[in-house]
Amino acid sequence: MSLPPADNGAAALVTGASSGIGEAIARRLAERGYRVALVARNQEKLEALAREIGGEAFVCDLADAAARDRLARDIAGRGLQVEVLVNNAGFGVYKDFAESDREREIEQARVNVEAVVDLTHRFLPDMIGRGRGAIINTASTAAFQPIPGNAGYAAAKAYVLALSEALHEETRKTGVTVTALCPGPVHSGFQEASGAQEFAKTLPKPMWRQPDAVARAALKAADRGKRLVVPGAPNRISGAMARFSPRPVLLRVLRMSSS
Ligand SMILES: NC(=O)c1ccc[n+]([C@@H]2O[C@H](COP(=O)([O-])OP(=O)(O)OC[C@H]3O[C@@H](n4cnc5c(N)ncnc54)[C@H](OP(=O)(O)O)[C@@H]3O)[C@@H](O)[C@H]2O)c1
Repeated sequence: MSLPPADNGAAALVTGASSGIGEAIARRLAERGYRVALVARNQEKLEALAREIGGEAFVCDLADAAARDRLARDIAGRGLQVEVLVNNAGFGVYKDFAESDREREIEQARVNVEAVVDLTHRFLPDMIGRGRGAIINTASTAAFQPIPGNAGYAAAKAYVLALSEALHEETRKTGVTVTALCPGPVHSGFQEASGAQEFAKTLPKPMWRQPDAVARAALKAADRGKRLVVPGAPNRISGAMARFSPRPVLLRVLRMSSS
């Protein structure tokens, strides 16, 4: 199993390509020769990156179902055959649920979950029909446990992880591979976009990664048809501890460190 060949104009669609992990993945996919469809809201950044790496910019607010319909039409209209799909756009709400902004919580579910379901459902059947394709869904180590103070985000990422792992199994022997990418903390625009600067200060230095290291780990895992990749040994260890710790104890500890 490996990523489908980039010849014959195969396209890679990357959401959240205007910044951070998505931008880094888009750069690496362009290097491999894919026609890269760059999706996010920031037109200026997308067009600058498109010029630099030879990709195509698609401005889209992924929280908006009608905008996703237009995106799918535009992708088809430009004759792009999506053989690699990277559902990566996302942000988090770092507040107690009852004190957070209701609209922002809903937007978080729409971008981090609804858009992943929508785009995966639009492109996966044709990948299976062609007998080749790869999907990388960016979840997070936040997916491994409920997180008080970041509840909606951890729940959204748990959804992405569970969906991706099940699809990995469903697509076995179809020529398509589905990989869940679960990064720990990454230096990107995420902390500012998510109001997570204070939370970020509580995370130990060895856990942090650069976007490009995460992008390389993601593509290597997809190349090998892996179900899951957690970049960085410290994050694999803390992820395993979180998954196998008794929930009542873990929740109390997480609550203490978030308040
Ligand atoms: N950084 C971390 O510590 C970390 C850790 C684990 C997992 N992750 C996950 O990694 C993914 C990428 O995050 P990042 O770290 O690269 O953060 P980032 O630098 O803030 O990038 C987030 C990307 O998502 C896009 N995006 C956000 N809302 C969108 C919307 N409504 N419609 C379309 N695009 C939208 C942003 O583009 P526009 O603003 O231009 O729309 C941007 O390109 C996210 O799913 C995040 O949850 C991040």
